[in-house]
Amino acid sequence: MKQITKAAELQQAVAEAKAQNLEIGLVPTMGALHEGHLSLIERALKENDFVVVSLFVNPIQFNNKEDLAKYPRTIEADLDLIKSLELRIKGACTDRLVAFTPTVEEMYPDGEPTEIVYHFGPVEEVMEGPRRPGHFSGVAVVVRRLFDLAQPKRAYFGEKDYQQVAVIRALLEQIKYPIELVPCPIVRADDGLALSSRNMRLSPAARAIAPTINATLEQAAEMAEYEDVDDVKEWVVDTLASFHEVNPSLCPDGLKFEPEYFEIVDARTLQPIENWDAAGDLGAVGCIAVWLDGVRLIDIVKF
Ligand code: PAJ
Repeated sequence: MKQITKAAELQQAVAEAKAQNLEIGLVPTMGALHEGHLSLIERALKENDFVVVSLFVNPIQFNNKEDLAKYPRTIEADLDLIKSLELRIKGACTDRLVAFTPTVEEMYPDGEPTEIVYHFGPVEEVMEGPRRPGHFSGVAVVVRRLFDLAQPKRAYFGEKDYQQVAVIRALLEQIKYPIELVPCPIVRADDGLALSSRNMRLSPAARAIAPTINATLEQAAEMAEYEDVDDVKEWVVDTLASFHEVNPSLCPDGLKFEPEYFEIVDARTLQPIENWDAAGDLGAVGCIAVWLDGVRLIDIVKF
């Protein structure tokens, strides 16, 4: 792995790769890497000759400055993790993996764009969109800049951030770049909790019950065989919201799940569906945001 901090140096490395006709894969991240991120990098290395992993905490996608300040910055540990992945998959890729770790000034030489640059219509008007104004525009700005610098053939995004995948799909349609979007499955802990850098903020008691989110969603997928959309939605929210009443011994000191939303949507348009037949070519997906122990967790289930 080679670490690059300068945009011009990345462009140079990309030009050299292109001159050799190498296919480039891009994995955008904000660092604080875990096995979920590594699965994207591993897949990109399998499917491309040359891989750019970006590690950049993008200030303009945070609509809450406190969140930005609290975001973990663990660059040395991240680089070690990438190196350990290289060893795990037999080393041979050292010269075809770049970790791009720019500063804010390097990414935004003309200053941080503060206005909302992109609009994506219906896909951003649901779920995370209205709750995080400007977030997806900020994601799109940085991802487009990374597309321009890395000029990838393929770009890898996790389905954990399901709406982000839909937004990037819409971005690619808007800017008409011939980049293949590769959505990757969620990597989970052994107990089913979706891996996230936020999980380390959970207390032991909260971490112990957090897998209930995934377990409830899995049960919902089974219920979908014989229950209506509305009934499944109501059951998921009620099951989580009443968990502390049903299991008081697992919920000390007022610990409880507080679902913020659970929507069952068309997997492409992200618009809520009223019955299972209404889902289009990608099917239906359930997306949840739930507060636990002061931490906002998100997860999905495919129906
Ligand atoms: P970040 O939260 O660091 O996530 C980087 C990528 O890793 C995203 O595509 C995310 O969906 C994926 N990911 C996170 N947890 C995962 C898991 N448990 N399983 C599989 N994939 C997982 O998402 C961002 O950064 C930023 O918005 C970014 C796209 C980099 C733009 O700044």
